[in-house]
Amino acid sequence: ARLSVRDALGAPGASGERVKVQGWVRSIRSQKDVLFLHVNDGSSLESLQVVAESSLHSRELAFGSSVEVQGQLVKSPSKRQNVELKAEKIEVIGNCDAKAFPIKYKERHPLEYLRQYPHLRCRTNALGSILRIRSEATAATHSFFKENGFVHIHTPIITSNDCEGAGELFQVEPSSKIKVPKENFFSVPAFLTVSGQLHLEVMSGAFTRVFTFGPTFRAENSQSRRHLAEFYMVEAEISFVENLQDVMQVMEELFKAVTMTVLSNCPEDVELCHKYIAPGHKDILEHMLKNKFLIISYTEAVEILEQASQNFTFTPKWGTDLQTEHEKYLVKHCGSVPVFVTDYPLAIKPFYMRHNEGGPPHTVAAVDLLVPGVGELFGGSLREERYHVLEQRLDRLGLKDDYQWFLDLRQFGSVPHGGFGMGFERYLQCILGVDNIKDVIPFPRFTHSCLL
Ligand code: 4AD
Ligand code: MG
Repeated sequence: ARLSVRDALGAPGASGERVKVQGWVRSIRSQKDVLFLHVNDGSSLESLQVVAESSLHSRELAFGSSVEVQGQLVKSPSKRQNVELKAEKIEVIGNCDAKAFPIKYKERHPLEYLRQYPHLRCRTNALGSILRIRSEATAATHSFFKENGFVHIHTPIITSNDCEGAGELFQVEPSSKIKVPKENFFSVPAFLTVSGQLHLEVMSGAFTRVFTFGPTFRAENSQSRRHLAEFYMVEAEISFVENLQDVMQVMEELFKAVTMTVLSNCPEDVELCHKYIAPGHKDILEHMLKNKFLIISYTEAVEILEQASQNFTFTPKWGTDLQTEHEKYLVKHCGSVPVFVTDYPLAIKPFYMRHNEGGPPHTVAAVDLLVPGVGELFGGSLREERYHVLEQRLDRLGLKDDYQWFLDLRQFGSVPHGGFGMGFERYLQCILGVDNIKDVIPFPRFTHSCLL
């Protein structure tokens, strides 16, 4: 039977079962009459030890080569694993020129070095662990929403609207190679989506609780360690909410539930990150998980920042957006517990956010969740569900014609509703302590870089 390395390692010790294991050689050590190999197939961080007679050694059998090993699973004398594979046959499927291979045996390459090789870095322990965790967190996200009665919606990738109104759009046009129609394929300008929110709002008007989890695109001219041109966003939209607390509660539950699942399903992978990539991050994460997230208003946040304004390049001021340095300061100030910042100035937020009663100064029921090391992880809000208030806002922004359909939602059975979006890569950075966002996505896209 063909077994994955993971299943082989989990097999009961002395079963003597005849199996076939395929993978890549992670280490090779030959003694007088014995040959030891470690074979990894990506199913687990741990590799399977293969023991063979030295006569099975061949010139092609080298670090990095792909192999198929047939033999018997036996109890291992070593304390490090239960099981090893006693090889009867080792076939090299594809050899590997170790000299030319950018990944070197026994070396712990810096993540920055590995970034040059998006096609090969997945063969390292570090990227292996991060990407397995990413896969697990994806599944856990879907489970969380399913268990909480949310319907999954595939929102479109190509859209004619700019949800965030920030103009950070990639335009979509057919390549000049296609015959018809050359220009104006969609008859309107079309873009890659920056957020599935508006489409989710449509769906929350029928399914009550909905979510989407897909790629989003932003043409931000940024080389920062927390921005990508293509990133994944987890977005939820909930009808019949009473206040912003209802939305914040789901945000906190999502964060904690997904993280607990990841911790229990891939402990070795998380340990690798917390040991080698971000030493000390285990405590930071535990602190986040065991404490209730804090809540402060934007106005309070600005007051805190003004007290400490000598620390910043940008002077904090009511009415302007918080900068990364401000976000970091606030999180520290709050004891390195994630903190919700609520009720931002209306003037700096997108058109769809719900206008708070009272004022001036005018604020909206917006909420950002700031977390240690990363800053903004979630953005969310109550949505303006009142027809006339929204109509006036759109009118003032010159958007009324484009968003008639959005106004319709407020005319045909409108409900108070709200939602949020969580940057999935920033989430992974936050739980693993990975400094650069480019290391938590398989193929990062950013300014001046679209490798592969
Ligand atoms: O705060 P944002 O722009 O919110 C929205 O797009 C809302 N429409 C979401 C919603 O309510 N449904 O983006 C949400 C999150 C941010 O908090 C951040 O974590 C992440 O998406 N994000 C990015 N992540 C990586 N690279 C970028 N360029 C990002 N821009 C935003
Ligand atoms: Mg935001």
